[in-house]
Amino acid sequence: MEYTTLGKTGMTVSRICLGTMNFQFEKDGWQLGEEQVREIIDRAIDLGVTFFDTANVYRGGRSEEVLGKILADYDRDRIVLATKVYNSMDSDNPNAAGLSRKAIEQELAHSLDRLGMETIDLYQIHRWDDATPIAETLATLDDAVRRNQVRYIGASSMWAHQFADALHTSDRLGLERFVSMQNHYNMVYREEEREMLPLCEKKGIGVIPWSPLARGYLTRPHDAFDTTDRGQREAESRADRHEIYRANGGQEINERVQKLAADHDVSMAQIAVAWQLHQDPITAPIIGVSSVDQVEEAVEAVDISLSDDDLAYLAEPYGPVEISGHR
Ligand SMILES: NC(=O)c1ccc[n+]([C@@H]2O[C@H](COP(=O)([O-])OP(=O)(O)OC[C@H]3O[C@@H](n4cnc5c(N)ncnc54)[C@H](OP(=O)(O)O)[C@@H]3O)[C@@H](O)[C@H]2O)c1
Repeated sequence: MEYTTLGKTGMTVSRICLGTMNFQFEKDGWQLGEEQVREIIDRAIDLGVTFFDTANVYRGGRSEEVLGKILADYDRDRIVLATKVYNSMDSDNPNAAGLSRKAIEQELAHSLDRLGMETIDLYQIHRWDDATPIAETLATLDDAVRRNQVRYIGASSMWAHQFADALHTSDRLGLERFVSMQNHYNMVYREEEREMLPLCEKKGIGVIPWSPLARGYLTRPHDAFDTTDRGQREAESRADRHEIYRANGGQEINERVQKLAADHDVSMAQIAVAWQLHQDPITAPIIGVSSVDQVEEAVEAVDISLSDDDLAYLAEPYGPVEISGHR
């Protein structure tokens, strides 16, 4: 495993972050049961992964619960735990969503409780909240840092102008500043290269992309996408996102990933992980896995070296696609 620091902070993270959106107690479709989750986390830690990402909203809080329960068997000081707030945790309660002081303080208390932890290493806003002034959100997060409930604050998918506004506001008011951006970015969705990634590089923000393997689209031939439990579910329920992945060069990119994987004698997923790690702004992709083998492949991919010609070959077919992730 390789390690790096997150943005301009001094906090060290593994270059593979493990995503936990599909972690819960009961098995349901492509989601994982507790035993599988435990095997995956044990193996990830064994291989040097220290960085884990969850959210209050994943499986209605069960992802935080199961992650906290399993990580309790490990030295907390060695783990970097990231979670998020914003999406609704109770459709009957408008104050169980968004980024107001009331919502954040309540949801932060619930997340700490589910995780069984005193402090969250990286607390991220999951989206931008049009209904709350960013100064209120930042002041609330700043207070959480002063109370030692949160160590660093981060943000997730939004427009670059909104993120620039947030950074400027925290600097102007002397409040804690977002140290990371968790955004939608992969070989077949590169719209973030236009504004967000240059902003992050200029401001020293750590970048931790979500769906770095395009939700599985980059891990198998495009005509076999729906051959797994998750792929089938994604093809039915997230057809819009998959149209974007296939659009404007996406199929050609998928075929080029197949070709390079064969040339390097590795899997397609490993080419997709290696591609992430060769992009300068990227700190650590947040990889989703559904088996121990997939964790092992992700970690092995840290050692894959892609040449400039390989990178140009993978990049060449890409054309602009519709914005996806924050609208
Ligand atoms: N901030 C946000 O708004 C946001 C949004 C989405 C996700 N996230 C975060 O990002 C994490 C990852 O998201 P994601 O699951 O969509 O990411 P992903 O890494 O793009 O896709 C994961 C899928 O790729 C396939 N895969 C992974 N390794 C493989 C391998 N070695 N061989 C074959 N297939 C492989 C698996 O598909 P199969 O299961 O089909 O085998 C797996 O479920 C989430 O867990 C969450 O923490 C954040």
